[in-house]
Amino acid sequence: MKTTISVIKADVGSLPGHVAAPSVLLKSCEETLRNSDILTDFYVTRCGDDTELIMTHDLGVDNEDVHKLAWDAFTIAAEIAKKEGFYGAGQDLLADAFSGNVRGMGPGIAEMEIEERPAEPIIVFMCDKTAPSAFSLPLFEVFANPFSTAGLVLDPKLHDGFRFEIHDIKAHKKVFFDCPEEMYDLLALLGITSRYAIKRIYKKSGEIASVVCTEKLSEIAGEYVGKDDPVAIVRAQSGYPAVGEVLEPFARPFYVSGWMRGSHVGPLLPCSVDEANPSRFDGPPRIVALGFQVKNRKLGKPRDLLGDVSFDNARKVALDMADHMRRHGPFMPHLLPEDELEYTTITKVQKKLEGRFEDI
Ligand code: F6R
Ligand code: MG
Ligand code: MG
Repeated sequence: MKTTISVIKADVGSLPGHVAAPSVLLKSCEETLRNSDILTDFYVTRCGDDTELIMTHDLGVDNEDVHKLAWDAFTIAAEIAKKEGFYGAGQDLLADAFSGNVRGMGPGIAEMEIEERPAEPIIVFMCDKTAPSAFSLPLFEVFANPFSTAGLVLDPKLHDGFRFEIHDIKAHKKVFFDCPEEMYDLLALLGITSRYAIKRIYKKSGEIASVVCTEKLSEIAGEYVGKDDPVAIVRAQSGYPAVGEVLEPFARPFYVSGWMRGSHVGPLLPCSVDEANPSRFDGPPRIVALGFQVKNRKLGKPRDLLGDVSFDNARKVALDMADHMRRHGPFMPHLLPEDELEYTTITKVQKKLEGRFEDI
């Protein structure tokens, strides 16, 4: 029988402001999931202000019952958040009622169905204060950069490379690339992080290797209602990159969009779940990683992977990068390009200045 891993997340309330999802909300979600008989196992956690449901079952991806369960868990938690006065209560629940699938209703989703190997290491990445394309650089490195993943050169099981499914978030289209053969074409798109993002990665033989949540809240709602704060699932070992190869790109911090008001560029800071409390200028953007060894659809106890001491230096580098970016205040490149700003007063200011602009 196959195993489905569903990671469904939403910001349904946090405190103070957009810093951290309170444990009472996580406990409420746990209770809702525990009272259902459709899951084999689950683990509820958070990254910053986002509540994350990690679930295993045998119902396949996009299953209505699983999505309804996640929706119910978030709705009940949002009620508590409203009552307690938590910030942004129910923020990511954009629809009034569930209609078959949480896709397009606010929550973010990453799901994969697999044939479990005798030992199945799975890494669940969760981000706060950033967008789905934050995964493009690191996942490209994990599955295509031999300077990062030694196995691409050394391991006969990885040597053929991987297939990338890329989504054009604006045109709602997808395209596949084989790597290393089409690496330069792939990078030509992926570098445009405002438009293209990795959705899935496969082995050349067809098995799924990774999936990223690419729901874009601002596009769904037609206006700013919160950052996407994406999640991703990655399989590791025995024919896939090793756990350490999957984590390696996060030891070299890089810039992503989504800091303060979804309108600034900042470093993606790797940290433990406990340290995912984005408080400096509402950030910097965070990434956490939990490692599970899945067996018979049981998740077992997770290991907090990016909290390890070996990422201390990356944290230091990322904080220096944050200082450097903050030096720019309201200027680019800290500020995102005009058409990517989640908050802006530019139209208002332009209107006010109508008639004052003269020909040069
Ligand atoms: C939310 C986020 C924050 C908010 C900012 C303003 O995850 O990225 O930086 O955009 O705190 O929030 P509001 O408009 O709710 O006061
Ligand atoms: Mg928020
Ligand atoms: Mg968030």
